[in-house]
Amino acid sequence: MNIAIIGGGGVIGQKLGRALVARGHLRGRDITRITLADVTAPTPIAGADVACVTCDMSDPSQLSSVITPDTDVIFLLAAIVSGHAEREFDTGIRVNLQGVLNVYEAARATGTCPVVVYSSSMAVYGGDVPDPITDLTYLNPQTSYGMQKAAGELLLTDFSRKGFVDGRGFRLPTISVRPGKANGAASSFMSSIIREPLNGQEAICPVGRDFLHYYLSPKRCVENLILGAEVETNALGPDRCMIMPGQMLSIGQMIDAMTEVCGPAPAKLIRWESQPEVEKIVKGWRFDLHPARALALGLRADDGFSDNVRFYVDEDLPPAA
Ligand SMILES: NC(=O)c1ccc[n+]([C@@H]2O[C@H](COP(=O)([O-])OP(=O)(O)OC[C@H]3O[C@@H](n4cnc5c(N)ncnc54)[C@H](O)[C@@H]3O)[C@@H](O)[C@H]2O)c1
Repeated sequence: MNIAIIGGGGVIGQKLGRALVARGHLRGRDITRITLADVTAPTPIAGADVACVTCDMSDPSQLSSVITPDTDVIFLLAAIVSGHAEREFDTGIRVNLQGVLNVYEAARATGTCPVVVYSSSMAVYGGDVPDPITDLTYLNPQTSYGMQKAAGELLLTDFSRKGFVDGRGFRLPTISVRPGKANGAASSFMSSIIREPLNGQEAICPVGRDFLHYYLSPKRCVENLILGAEVETNALGPDRCMIMPGQMLSIGQMIDAMTEVCGPAPAKLIRWESQPEVEKIVKGWRFDLHPARALALGLRADDGFSDNVRFYVDEDLPPAA
């Protein structure tokens, strides 16, 4: 079993790589090679058969050494995130649309119909559609990033219908608590208001305690992506994309969970400060999501946000914090 992780230098890509090394098998076969490919040189992962490749997926020629006829499973996680794609329209099109199409074309060129697991986003939903949102709700993105993710889904379903790839796409909830530094995602504060205080630093919250959103821990996300790769093709049906399970929570519930796990000190490091540009994007996102298809396939959400906090403390809290 030969696996390529495109975006293997990112937060989810690195955790997925480590989880696959620890697991050692996928789709009933031993994993013999994992290639982490990313436009930024991926941090190496311990494991005899892990290769790191610097590769810009917006240039098709750079994919030829990453996706080869013996590639069995491709996890397509590379993207520029929402705020970045909104600020730089052309970069978003080049990476999130053309780059994704390049990966699908490289997979098709193998002639072996590899499994492709695509990370979409709930940013494909928005605007004037009724709640609750189900797998069948009209994709109505209100940002360029959401449009690019929706296009990636449509392409994946069509490439699967044609037998070029065996695709499965998952609309990821907002990942929290995301380790590392704040990124260009409009949702970045949804991790930093927990992560920075746990690291002993101040954080700014641009929305109120009642702001509701849909969350999943990085750990559960990786488990779900692996399950998504394992699903038998005939369990998927013609529409290959679905909502990944998450939890709908208010900012207040998240902060209360942090206090429950780590005491009252971290919450005191949160400053409440309105940021209209962020608010405009995140308020266009929808949150009452019913992920029936993925739940039926065995994917799952976290049990409560205190789990998300514990996972961060156990796996990602910097030693000095
Ligand atoms: N983290 C979230 O809350 C969230 C929510 C919904 C969807 N997603 C999607 O899940 C995926 C993984 O998210 P993440 O949190 O690990 O993001 P991340 O930003 O940590 O990782 C994405 C990686 O893609 C790489 N990349 C960017 N352009 C590239 C290119 N041209 N060629 C190759 N690599 C390139 C980046 O260098 C980065 O390492 C992304 O597709 C993202 O859109 C994430």
